[in-house]
Amino acid sequence: MLRSVEFALRGAGASRSFAFSSAAPERKVAILGAAGGIGQPLALLMKLNPLVSRLSLHDIAGTSGVAADVSHINTPAQVAGFVGEDQLGEALKDADVVIIPAGVPRKPGMTRDDLFNINAGIVNSLCTAIAKHCPHALVNMISNPVNSTVPIAAEVFKKAGTYDEKKLFGVTTLDLVRAKTFYAGKTGLPVSDVNVPVVGGHAGITILPLFSQRTQDGGTEVVEAKAGKGSATLSMAHSKFCNMQLMSECTFMCSLTIFIVFIIKIVKLGRNGVEEVLELGSLSEYEKQGNLRGSTQFCICVQIHRLYGVCQS
Ligand code: NAD
Ligand code: LMR
Repeated sequence: MLRSVEFALRGAGASRSFAFSSAAPERKVAILGAAGGIGQPLALLMKLNPLVSRLSLHDIAGTSGVAADVSHINTPAQVAGFVGEDQLGEALKDADVVIIPAGVPRKPGMTRDDLFNINAGIVNSLCTAIAKHCPHALVNMISNPVNSTVPIAAEVFKKAGTYDEKKLFGVTTLDLVRAKTFYAGKTGLPVSDVNVPVVGGHAGITILPLFSQRTQDGGTEVVEAKAGKGSATLSMAHSKFCNMQLMSECTFMCSLTIFIVFIIKIVKLGRNGVEEVLELGSLSEYEKQGNLRGSTQFCICVQIHRLYGVCQS
């Protein structure tokens, strides 16, 4: 089907119309922090995703170039760049999925908690805008410390009366990606055959891979290897890409427990969020203790393994 669409590139002040052929579902995705280390590869991967029909790229600066660049890729998603607080509402308008890598990354010697003061404020204001402009969107929090930014988002949404625990996710899929890679490397198994559930949280000992411990230090390994030039960005963006691409019934995500603890759970996701919380399966004694330890920390929210159908019409 051929249809005419308006292409608007904010910031560059350019606007033009063109026709394209698409049978893609109408799924609108907004990335906040889109000009950053994670945001840019994530924008690329979202543009490649055939399930995305509109891609809004927002940041405090630099989205004009990213949007222009990504928009030239010959896939159906319509791309627009948005800059600053003034254009945030427009970027978020009617979004089905919002992804938030906005904030600062850590440098060697820092913990994720050291980012709290600055990133908490950023997340607070972005979530306030989400509650206003796309209150029903699935919100995927990447900004660290995820263990704390997700509860902040939850509080903002509760205050605005838009909170839905089935639609708020702290994205720690990166731990799954790492666990699979490290386990396959250690055992010599083909990585495509390896599945390592990771539960708990996304900081140090709260990360509980059910077969491996190495995942717990994966982030620090990248921060040190980049020597002050950022933390994981490419593998992180890939992790998100997997979420949007793969159709699976098994997915990791968090839920709110009766103790108001955010913790990673294994869930089945649908296009409206969590459909079912799944059992963890049998755990070794070590893993049982680790799970208890992770659960008692006021920590995380989600571990999306595969985001089943979120962008599916
Ligand atoms: P980055 O500094 O490269 O990019 C962050 C972007 O956010 C920048 O472009 C910045 O301009 C933008 N930004 C800042 N304030 C903003 C605001 N108010 N509105 C919109 N955009 C804003 O950092 P990065 O490497 O992309 O990492 C981003 C965050 O993701 C960090 O907090 C990092 O620790 C976290 N992270 C999380 C995971 C995870 O598994 N959850 C993995 C890697 C990194
Ligand atoms: C990671 O695990 O790579 C991210 O949380 C970034 C970091 O600071 O380690």
